[in-house]
Amino acid sequence: MGKAMIVGCGGVAGVAIQKCCQNSEVFDEICIASRTKSKCDALKAKLDGGKTKITTAQVDADHVDELAALIRREKPSVVLNLALPYQDLTIMDACLETRTHYVDAANYEPPDTAKFEYKWQWDYRDRFQKAGITALLGCGFDPGVTGVFSAYAAKHEFDEIHSIDILDCNAGDHGYPFATNFNPEINIREVTAKGSYWENGRWIETEPMAIKRVYDFPEIGPKDMYLLHHEELESLGINIRGIRRIRFFMTFGQSYLEHLRCLQNVGMTSIEPIDFEGKKIIPLQFLKAVLPDPASLGPRTKGKTNIGCIFQGIKDGKEKNYYLYNVCDHQECYREVGSQAVSYTTGVPAMIGTMLVMNGTWQKPGVYNIEEFDPDPFMAALNRWGLPWQESYHPELVEYC
Ligand SMILES: NC(=O)c1ccc[n+]([C@@H]2O[C@H](COP(=O)([O-])OP(=O)(O)OC[C@H]3O[C@@H](n4cnc5c(N)ncnc54)[C@H](OP(=O)(O)O)[C@@H]3O)[C@@H](O)[C@H]2O)c1
Repeated sequence: MGKAMIVGCGGVAGVAIQKCCQNSEVFDEICIASRTKSKCDALKAKLDGGKTKITTAQVDADHVDELAALIRREKPSVVLNLALPYQDLTIMDACLETRTHYVDAANYEPPDTAKFEYKWQWDYRDRFQKAGITALLGCGFDPGVTGVFSAYAAKHEFDEIHSIDILDCNAGDHGYPFATNFNPEINIREVTAKGSYWENGRWIETEPMAIKRVYDFPEIGPKDMYLLHHEELESLGINIRGIRRIRFFMTFGQSYLEHLRCLQNVGMTSIEPIDFEGKKIIPLQFLKAVLPDPASLGPRTKGKTNIGCIFQGIKDGKEKNYYLYNVCDHQECYREVGSQAVSYTTGVPAMIGTMLVMNGTWQKPGVYNIEEFDPDPFMAALNRWGLPWQESYHPELVEYC
């Protein structure tokens, strides 16, 4: 049916690319383009021989001209951005220049400020609309599937949704005292930031990790979870009609938190450049270099993830609670694609969103968050491509802050 270009060849891209190859009816051709071409070539060597034709390219996605020249040469109909959030705007610029659809899994973050918000990407709305191309933002699991779950609940289960609690539990054990499950720099910037939740049209800010709850996760059991700021709160607050409160909780083990606290206390998580032996270095980037590569955690990680949304609202004049979630097993993911469940639960939705844009199901000119599209084809594809969802009409609720 068509050709996609995937930018980046790390943990998440590795899964998305393998899923594109499994879905060769849609992805006749893919181009894997990243900073380190040898990683693209190694993945191509592993996957060649199937029905999807694979090409590879070196690209520095910080440079619009380089990207645009590559897109003109390869002619994909969609670019799937699985590099880092720092590259979102340059890749969107290159898509505009070449009139190519755009999909990503994380919103833009300036490298020198630990802050993420949609403003920068929403500013592209008019230009994408005029160019007649679609940008689909935040197409991983969270953000991503959490937005699809919200749109599905709004369409099929509620007349009005009043509250959404997004719960992200990773009960995987990789045996290291401290490691992150996706890019350490992005992960640590996210969890060391202040927490916040959205209530009655305004943000309530909290100190980092200040709000803790224990939740008994289906198929996992009780885990400590902490309130974080997360990017989908911003778009869901606008796109889910009647919504009054949205919170995001993520589980962390004691060992992770103790190491993180210590690293913060000694300044290792800072993004302020420091002088080191006559050179400027950023402590967090140095820390990333000494931590285990998330891609290496696959063979060691045992246990499951459970990510989902608890909705509270009204249906037919009555109060209603509803929980939609997915449980994913780290070792099953490793057996299938050679990676752990955090990359898997992000890479599969990234492939699905790219498919829906490429085959026209989700094309509309402009810049959109995932919950602005019809959730039904995405929900069906989750069941087909490895992330089946489950539902409960009597979930345990999370105590109010
Ligand atoms: N929505 C979700 O649920 C979710 C969950 C997890 C992650 N994410 C997002 O998914 C994305 C990928 O995460 P990951 O864990 O796969 O990260 P990763 O393993 O660090 O991979 C990032 C890839 O991007 C490449 N890259 C970095 N800068 C580049 C540049 N200037 N030009 C070209 N390529 C560049 C890297 O190249 P090198 O190999 O040379 O380093 C690497 O291949 C991130 O944006 C992350 O925030 C989303």
